[in-house]
Amino acid sequence: MSDTLKFTQSIINGYNTKGDFILLGSAILNNVPQKEAQVKLPLSTLNRHGLIAGATGTGKTVTLQVIAENMCAKGIPVLMMDLKGDLSGIAKSGTLNPKIEERHQLIGIPYVANATSVEFLTLSKESGAKLRATVSEFGAVLFSKILNLNDTQSGIVSVLFKYADDKQLPLLDLKDFKSLLNFSLNEGKAELQKSYGNISSASVGTILRAVVELESQGADEFFGERSFEVTDLVKLDAYGRGIASIIRLTDIQDKPKLFSTFMLCLLAEIYQTFPEAGDIDKPKLCVFIDEAHLLFKEASQALLDQIEAIIKLIRSKGVGIYFCTQNPYDIPEAVLSQLGLKIQHALRAFTEKDRKAIKKTAENYPISEFYKTDELLTSIGIGQALVTGLSEKGIPTPLAATHLRAPMSRIGTLSTDEIQQIVSTSQLVAKYNEVLDRESAFEILNKKLQSIQEEEPEEKTPKKTVKEEKSTIEKLSENTMVRQVGRTVVREVTRGLLGVLGIGSKRKKGWF
Ligand SMILES: Nc1ncnc2c1ncn2[C@@H]1O[C@H](COP(=O)(O)OP(=O)(O)O)[C@@H](O)[C@H]1O
Ligand SMILES: [Mg+2]
Repeated sequence: MSDTLKFTQSIINGYNTKGDFILLGSAILNNVPQKEAQVKLPLSTLNRHGLIAGATGTGKTVTLQVIAENMCAKGIPVLMMDLKGDLSGIAKSGTLNPKIEERHQLIGIPYVANATSVEFLTLSKESGAKLRATVSEFGAVLFSKILNLNDTQSGIVSVLFKYADDKQLPLLDLKDFKSLLNFSLNEGKAELQKSYGNISSASVGTILRAVVELESQGADEFFGERSFEVTDLVKLDAYGRGIASIIRLTDIQDKPKLFSTFMLCLLAEIYQTFPEAGDIDKPKLCVFIDEAHLLFKEASQALLDQIEAIIKLIRSKGVGIYFCTQNPYDIPEAVLSQLGLKIQHALRAFTEKDRKAIKKTAENYPISEFYKTDELLTSIGIGQALVTGLSEKGIPTPLAATHLRAPMSRIGTLSTDEIQQIVSTSQLVAKYNEVLDRESAFEILNKKLQSIQEEEPEEKTPKKTVKEEKSTIEKLSENTMVRQVGRTVVREVTRGLLGVLGIGSKRKKGWF
């Protein structure tokens, strides 16, 4: 048997599927795509996570787009973190040009132009459905992490969250949390001290400054209501195709901490909301994180541990997570070892360090009798990549240098008008962009202060006892609060989950 035949046969066998699949392209031998050697990803393995890596300009984002749009076409909703704005093109049909025509002739499949239904979401002021979470939902642990607090300060945050829970003071936005901080320094000091131990003003001052800094990063847009329901991420369009939810994050590049915390919160909420999926024909949802190094940059070890734990667990919910980054080593080893699909675009060897990284990368791919992997890594072209995935039986598929298909949708960004047009007809935008500022800690505490001032015009009045103090708050919150019981339960469970995952706050003696 000739080498070419042997190669083609090994790819056909290795990538054989019983169930439905996504076709990525054709495997290359000696620089020529072999039309019969189709590289397929079985839908049933797509919750096993993946990585798309490679140097800038080698085709990572387009590969992400190809996989995401084909998932949608197969009825799998996707969620995409768009850090550069170049994923929006998925919403419009692509156009055939000579290059794409040639590409598809080489692969041996016809080019089809098609658009995917999308929803644009935003964490900031960009247009799209506002993705928000309340401070309470974040939980004390995560909230302290995002503020970069030390153990003592985190302990105080936990106390304040607990106090707000006990007193039914909704902590919706940063304004609420700030007023609670102020309250703990002034009118609430005695009461908090009695129930939870001493709270140092210096620490509260530090927390307050951290909150103000977070606000200045634009986080006040993110904290508040209406809380986003993750079930809105798993919608199908009128044709039964998955909807692509694109989170527009172009303005978050310089705020990696906000990004990683937000991602973790989102994944934790997905994990907690979705039922166990068992064996699946196809995933319930796939999440794509472009420029994923930002997720791990500056993330503390505790946050990394948590991301790792969630990634391990979320698979059983039928959710796949795909990281897209330049260097595979941008992704922590523990996360890398969990990824079923690896797509490696070309790497550039400028320095000794680069060459070492290439060798190491090559060693992490299955050995192939047909390839010199390290050489291929620097020589494959744009829109080509080394692929290894999982068969339906969970066995790694043979290494295939793949000539990838072109996206059905547009390569590149949508214009502002095009985005606006989609946003203006979005049902999610209608649901989430209504301004809500229901009565929460800020208003309740303000009212309380007012009533104290009215009742006690002179200092003569004896100080209220702690007992009376409590009842004032309770009275004030009783009628004004409409508690979202469902969400509160979710929140508690999520917090519990985050605790279970090993980063429960370090509680100091005497606080609880
Ligand atoms: N599969 C593909 N089909 C067609 N063109 C591609 C493909 N992959 C890459 N390209 C071309 O290469 C360019 C750069 O790809 P891109 O995905 O933006 O690179 P990266 O994300 O790695 O920086 C694209 O704009 C497109 O013109
Ligand atoms: Mg890119």
